[in-house]
Amino acid sequence: MFDQASRLRDLIEERADEEAQSRQVGELYFNAAETTRVIAITSGKGGVGKTNLAVNLAVGLQSSGQRVLLIDADIGTANVNLLMGSVTNRSLVDLLEDEVQLEDVIESGVAGVKYISGVAGVEEALNMNRLKQKKLHKKLARCSELADVIIIDTGAGLNRNVIEFVLAAEEVLLITTPEPTALADAYAVIKAYSTYTDRRNIKLIVNRIREEEECYEVTEKINQTTKKFLGVTIGCLGYIYEDKIVREAVHRQEPFLIINPDSPASQCISELVKSLLSGKRMKSVSRGWRGFLDRIFGY
Ligand SMILES: Nc1ncnc2c1ncn2[C@@H]1O[C@H](COP(=O)(O)OP(=O)(O)OP(=O)(O)O)[C@@H](O)[C@H]1O
Ligand SMILES: [Mg+2]
Repeated sequence: MFDQASRLRDLIEERADEEAQSRQVGELYFNAAETTRVIAITSGKGGVGKTNLAVNLAVGLQSSGQRVLLIDADIGTANVNLLMGSVTNRSLVDLLEDEVQLEDVIESGVAGVKYISGVAGVEEALNMNRLKQKKLHKKLARCSELADVIIIDTGAGLNRNVIEFVLAAEEVLLITTPEPTALADAYAVIKAYSTYTDRRNIKLIVNRIREEEECYEVTEKINQTTKKFLGVTIGCLGYIYEDKIVREAVHRQEPFLIINPDSPASQCISELVKSLLSGKRMKSVSRGWRGFLDRIFGY
């Protein structure tokens, strides 16, 4: 009799413990998911500096004490891993295999930046059946436990995959050079997303400028057009100087911020890091990584 009662009590206590633990895990997960910042880097025209910005921003943010996870979602020319100085065997799509866990596809790169390499197959991921999507969603959800900031290098232009990633991210950095063709393509991107501006947080970054003035001119030009035709204006987060170190860094397969933190382009990255860390995140769209995944998977 006594034995049975005490076993029952033990069982009840065990169950209460388990429930408390799972609540705690749930809360931890919830908090992490809410605070992880998701930044997509995109452009209208290709080759204007997305990958270099993504990699160097990741290194800069990591050096400022943020835990950064960089995701290469550029299907056409996925090359973050090249700039991180290593070749990876696995990508996000491998997570579809039951035995592959999140840790298996995450690589550790320079300065401790974590990254997930070339997501060839995102198209499949977006089109796969609900059960597979759920499994992928569950595995990916844990990214938020590992990172304070998740940076996504999207492709250029307006194909479906790029749009999905850009629309799902809470913050979007739209990079352009001052060339008229790049500006026209940047405008096309803003136009395509302008229907969502109430929950979009697009900021412009002007790359390959020769003097600061050029950044203001570009922002002004773009805003004249967006104001006239779309009724919106876009803020500028900063600029990056034309700097020969960028080409050198690409050849050496190393982020330029590591090669020379004092070079003009590196100093610009440091300024961008400061702006990102001091700027307020838009409350209405601050749904973190979990919000990003829910939007990607259409929940
Ligand atoms: N600030 C800069 N100064 C000098 N050269 C630059 C600068 N930014 C980019 N470049 C040059 O442009 C090239 C393309 O840059 P990057 O690969 O980052 O562009 P991207 O937008 O990711 O291209 P893609 O659309 O093909 O993915 C670099 O290899 C470098 O030669
Ligand atoms: Mg690129």
